[in-house]
Amino acid sequence: MSEHLLIERDGGLLTLRMHRPDKKNALTRAMYTSMAETLDQAERDPSVRAVLLTGGEDCFTSGNDVADFIQAPPSGLNSEVFHFMRALFDFSKPVVAAVAGPAVGIGTTLLLHCDLVYVARGAQLKMPFVNLGLCPEYGSSLILPRLLGHARAAELLLLGQAFTGEQAAAWGIANQALDDGAATLSKAREMALRFLQLAPSAVVDSKRLIRAPGREELRRVIEEEGALFGQRLRSPEAIEALTAFMQRRPADFTRFA
Ligand code: COA
Repeated sequence: MSEHLLIERDGGLLTLRMHRPDKKNALTRAMYTSMAETLDQAERDPSVRAVLLTGGEDCFTSGNDVADFIQAPPSGLNSEVFHFMRALFDFSKPVVAAVAGPAVGIGTTLLLHCDLVYVARGAQLKMPFVNLGLCPEYGSSLILPRLLGHARAAELLLLGQAFTGEQAAAWGIANQALDDGAATLSKAREMALRFLQLAPSAVVDSKRLIRAPGREELRRVIEEEGALFGQRLRSPEAIEALTAFMQRRPADFTRFA
């Protein structure tokens, strides 16, 4: 189990907290594996009624560890990140997210697969995939244009434009924006605890129904995005962008035709 994933149990509520503060909770392969295994166990454990996913009061996550992207780029359906996202995608019980501070890359994408999302007003969300020479992932190229319309989705996914927690709530990516990280965590916890009072099978059946429309199409898009993402990670454009991030300089795409 990764030392960077803190797991708490409070009755039927399981809390997963990403905790790698010196790297803004950047997600390593070990963290993905721990999160996937924890979700898989929770899926099988009838005493778990709901999951709360958070990075704490100051930072959700800066996304995939960029050094990992360079040294061990995930390849396809057997990668650690794919195991985690599949576990989240297939998780039958409610998942509630509490988001404060940065939520970058997969940190924003994964919210599209949670059931309830509470966010601090000033949280900074962004999906800078094109900026990194990459492409959208895990269904965001299908879900976001449907949710936001093409124009706004294009700003977020083609330009990698950042947006605030307040905007995320106004646009329907999050349920509610709260004043700060503490209020966000407290609200998310309060809402997650509500599931513990509800009939568990009714919750699971209802989640399945509201997730069902378009699910097979979504699965197909996720595989298509995943294959392209894997190719793009090995492209000269991505290598330039990821190296530039590690060297703390702007990426230079001028030499690419
Ligand atoms: N992978 C690896 N390391 C990361 C990281 C990531 N995704 N995000 C941040 N870090 C590291 C930084 O390199 C730095 O390490 P150092 O102290 O050893 O130099 C440390 O975390 C703090 O980051 P820093 O950028 O100095 O903090 P900040 O408060 O100025 O900015 C972010 C925070 C999250 C806005 C910024 O780090 C960022 O944009 N990261 C996103 C990286 C990214 O593009 N992720 C998406 C991948 S698809």
